[in-house]
Amino acid sequence: MMELLLATDLDHTLVGDDGATGRLNQWLMERRGRVGLVYCTGRSLHSARQLQQERALLEPDYWVTAVGTEIYHRGLPDPDWRALLAAGWQRETLVALTEHFQDLIPQPEVEQGPFKVSFFLERSMSATVLPRLRQAIAALGIPAQLVYSTGQDLDILPQAGDKGQAITYLRARLNLAPERTLVCGDSENDLSLYQGTERGVLVSNAQTPLVAWYRQHGQPWHYLACTPYAGGILEALAHFGLE
Ligand code: GLC
Ligand code: MG
Repeated sequence: MMELLLATDLDHTLVGDDGATGRLNQWLMERRGRVGLVYCTGRSLHSARQLQQERALLEPDYWVTAVGTEIYHRGLPDPDWRALLAAGWQRETLVALTEHFQDLIPQPEVEQGPFKVSFFLERSMSATVLPRLRQAIAALGIPAQLVYSTGQDLDILPQAGDKGQAITYLRARLNLAPERTLVCGDSENDLSLYQGTERGVLVSNAQTPLVAWYRQHGQPWHYLACTPYAGGILEALAHFGLE
């Protein structure tokens, strides 16, 4: 029976210190069947699987990919999640709109998704471009949100689709309480993971804007680890008594 859900980002959270990833893998293998493992990444499934191979990551119970806009279980996409995100979403219209913004450089095709339109945007341009783009999208009445991460990546996602909402959806399906769920991240596209009452850890190498958010809005069920990468996840499991 599943007693705990561990939902972790990959790049710079689970992955970054191979020794620590190995120790967490061991911890998980000792609790097989009792801990549900979810990889929660900005990457496409294809690219996330490549990383899994390169870094010897365990096979998770669920993949939450493309910044929460896709959920896979046993190799198949979750059709109910797709249907939820499809409401009001107009991908073609959004793509056409972004063509008027010359500072937006499209990311490679493999990182584009049915519910994710992604660009590179220079940090120095973001303060002017993001409000203009947000306003233009609002004027079209499309329920979309902008997620800008690590001073370079811009994702346009459905309002109802991000990592946090995907985990809430899965948690409800699995009937697991927020106290029995640990979410783990390091960058701005993980911010949505901390919006509910799930236990949440920011690994010590978290990006400055995420740490700033924690200092201002962090709740008693959030924890800023002293250890980077997967070591921070192990530290948080002990901190929350979830071992
Ligand atoms: C990953 C994805 C990229 C996305 C970024 C931030 O790097 O590959 O498409 O923009 O995460 O969410
Ligand atoms: Mg990350």
